[in-house]
Amino acid sequence: ALPRSLEGVHVAISAGGTREALDPVRFIGNRSSGKQGYALARVAAQRGARVTLVAGNTADLVTPAGVDLVRIGSAVELRDAMHKIAADADVVVMAAAVADFRPVSLTGHKIKKTDAEPDPIALTKNPDILKELVSARRDGQVIVGFAAETGDETTSVLDYGRAKLRRKGCDLLVVNAVGDGKAFEQEDNAGWLLSADGAEAAIPHGSKAQLASAVWDAVTDRLTRSQ
Ligand code: PMT
Repeated sequence: ALPRSLEGVHVAISAGGTREALDPVRFIGNRSSGKQGYALARVAAQRGARVTLVAGNTADLVTPAGVDLVRIGSAVELRDAMHKIAADADVVVMAAAVADFRPVSLTGHKIKKTDAEPDPIALTKNPDILKELVSARRDGQVIVGFAAETGDETTSVLDYGRAKLRRKGCDLLVVNAVGDGKAFEQEDNAGWLLSADGAEAAIPHGSKAQLASAVWDAVTDRLTRSQ
């Protein structure tokens, strides 16, 4: 099938990991490389979309041609950027790995090592950006979330994904199995695409660009339906 056009569509995509500062030189971060978010941006731009890519910490990646890049550090910075950009976007995709918590206090100076036992790090909740974006959704706007899940004895990756789709209220949720060297930092990915209307499709193992294509196919279907 021919790639479906995103001509005239403004898409906002978040990519990479947030960093939550402890002091001027240290932070709490995660393993997201930004590769999946950049692949989403590249494929969207190739299909004719106007793309704004909001990137946290990433590997050394080339900004895809024609894509507007906005850099952020922390989850709170990401939230501010996404609200601003989403106000003018037809599609919002949250592929960033956002820290759920941040240190309560930011020490202005480098935390010093002493002979005493270190203090525990007190954490506070970060805003749930995806949930906020869903609450602020414009008419006809399509919102896509990602879920990085590990299964356990009682619940599968897919069941965690289903519960997350209901909780977040987005239109589409891409569920990635992570852990054991999967998804984070890799060139390849796989998962499921869950839709708020109950449809579920497996995304076969392939490059992050292939997963991005599957996401844009599903988004395009929704945009066409709501016109
Ligand atoms: O960057 P790569 O190395 O290429 O790896 C890609 C990836 C595995 C990071 C990516 O495919 C992915 O799954 N991204 C989402 C990771 C994540 O944070 O999942 P989550 O289950 O914690 O969050 C669920 C959704 O809510 C995500 O859309 C996330 O962006 C969003 N979220 C999470 C927490 C928070 N405080 N605010 C949010 O908006």
